[in-house]
Amino acid sequence: MPPDAAVTTTTPDGPLLRLESVAVAFGGLRALDGVDLVVTTGERVAVLGPNGAGKTTLFNAITGDHAPTEGRVIIDGVDCTHLPSRLRPQLGVARTYQKTRLFGGLTVEDNLYLAQTGYAGRHFSLRRSATDRRLREAAGELAGTVWLGDQLATLVADLSHGQQRQLEIGIALANHPRLMMLDEPASGLSRGERERLVDLLEELPPTTTVLLIEHDMDVALRVAGRVVVMDKGTTVATGTPDEIRANPLVHAVYLGQS
Ligand SMILES: Nc1ncnc2c1ncn2[C@@H]1O[C@H](COP(=O)(O)OP(=O)(O)OP(=O)(O)O)[C@@H](O)[C@H]1O
Ligand SMILES: [Mg+2]
Repeated sequence: MPPDAAVTTTTPDGPLLRLESVAVAFGGLRALDGVDLVVTTGERVAVLGPNGAGKTTLFNAITGDHAPTEGRVIIDGVDCTHLPSRLRPQLGVARTYQKTRLFGGLTVEDNLYLAQTGYAGRHFSLRRSATDRRLREAAGELAGTVWLGDQLATLVADLSHGQQRQLEIGIALANHPRLMMLDEPASGLSRGERERLVDLLEELPPTTTVLLIEHDMDVALRVAGRVVVMDKGTTVATGTPDEIRANPLVHAVYLGQS
């Protein structure tokens, strides 16, 4: 498929996400080096690994933020290896970023409103017209979903760090994604905020597939049904949370460093 072709999603029997030998090179550095991964609909997969393991690069390869140098990324049967990231929402893919990308000077409601209109630039408008009412209502519902229903008029800059993370998840949910990709949503959160985040992730619809990068083992192992451990651009272990807890290699690669 040419990069700019319209994407028609189908419902094939195959997995929601399939990576085949995906590699990303930055000059001489192979940040990803032949990663294979299959994720089925509704799975909750945590990606663990030390700093620089290639976790965010893996996300970027899936979302098109940084296309793979080699290999293939197939989402819902569509080869989107070189499809621009702006077309991912049509495939049901949403993500959050390691560093917050919220509009700090706008309210919670406005951030959620813009998320629904595709704030990547196409319909940037804060006009309060009758036609906006439905989106405003939906913004209110989304806020409730991420437990910010009483914060609609609060400026993002005045939210706690944990509330900002909740809002990011609300924004990612705005287009009813089938694949939610969360890059370290618990980073910088207090213990209480982490508990809230885990509860929030557990409340996502069971059909929502989740890929979660997480340094906090507690969060990762509680949310995920399967864990993939990365090191130096490759996947070095995969298994259930119990298998990963008991894997000596994982302890050497990851737990020993945390
Ligand atoms: N745009 C880039 N240009 C050059 N090198 C990069 C770029 N992005 C990432 N890298 C390098 O690729 C490797 C993997 O980085 P990546 O951000 O994917 O790691 P990570 O597992 O997400 O780490 P962290 O836990 O610190 O977020 C690192 O060595 C990093 O320095
Ligand atoms: Mg990262």
